[in-house]
Amino acid sequence: APDISVANVQSHLAQLNTIASQNGGNRRAGSAGYTASVAYVKGKLQAAGYTVSEQTCTSCTYRGNNLIADWPGGPSDQTVMFGAHLDGVAAGPGINDNGSGSATLLENALALAQRNPTMTRHVRFAWWNGEEQGLQGSKYYVGQLTAAQRSAIKAYYNFDMVASTNAGYFINNVDSAASAPMKEYWDSLNLAPEENVEGQGRSDDYSFQQGGIPTSGYATGASDTKSSAQAAKWGGTAGRSYDPCYHQSCDTTSNINATALDRSADGVAHTVWKTSVGTTAPAD
Ligand code: PHE
Ligand code: CA
Ligand code: ZN
Ligand code: ZN
Ligand code: ZN
Repeated sequence: APDISVANVQSHLAQLNTIASQNGGNRRAGSAGYTASVAYVKGKLQAAGYTVSEQTCTSCTYRGNNLIADWPGGPSDQTVMFGAHLDGVAAGPGINDNGSGSATLLENALALAQRNPTMTRHVRFAWWNGEEQGLQGSKYYVGQLTAAQRSAIKAYYNFDMVASTNAGYFINNVDSAASAPMKEYWDSLNLAPEENVEGQGRSDDYSFQQGGIPTSGYATGASDTKSSAQAAKWGGTAGRSYDPCYHQSCDTTSNINATALDRSADGVAHTVWKTSVGTTAPAD
């Protein structure tokens, strides 16, 4: 799998931070900052050759669009999805929550397009509206799928807060078959990832889980406190939150752990390749 450039991911984060600054300081669903965030991601994807669509979430508290990007290739009845919520809270620019997941997926999508490998599965990326109001955008998306479309989605991988300054290394459903490639990558870095206990039912993977689709994903932690055992194996500070700026105005580009961001971005690439790319792909 390619080594994703963390500098490129950080440049997307800088753009999202600027978008917030120029639109009242946030990227909340229904705001100008959210619409501008969708436009930024969409423009990059279209230029790279994705088939991109916007889906208006009519059941969302703040009406706005989910952004769906399909990489042409691979059997559509064997689809693997990667998603992140693109909206933030009103308090600040939302750069770890969830510019980090959004930018990680955008750069992975661009890297896949640039490599253009033979696809054994169809890959679809999604950026959700209205997560902060209760997983609304992803719930709407899953709800509008036909039974055939739902059963075509073999796995959904979620990325919500993947660069917390006092990072933990958490995987949703860490012992599931779907999580195996995600776990394999972080295991290769000797991170000894743990179950994402804090995130159970709290992000968009829950919408897919409720739809009967296998789910996994990475997270580096929100407001919960890092234990001394976790600080011993991962570094950082015991007795402090994983992200001390969670849902606050200080969730800016300064609130990003570049090491955790890189480990997350590279693990996504590993998972895209492991699940969906043929043997003619560049070797790992
Ligand atoms: N879904 C939460 C949010 O966006 C983030 C979160 C994820 C919190 C996982 C805890 C655990 O605010
Ligand atoms: Ca990298
Ligand atoms: Zn949040
Ligand atoms: Zn979030
Ligand atoms: Zn790999």
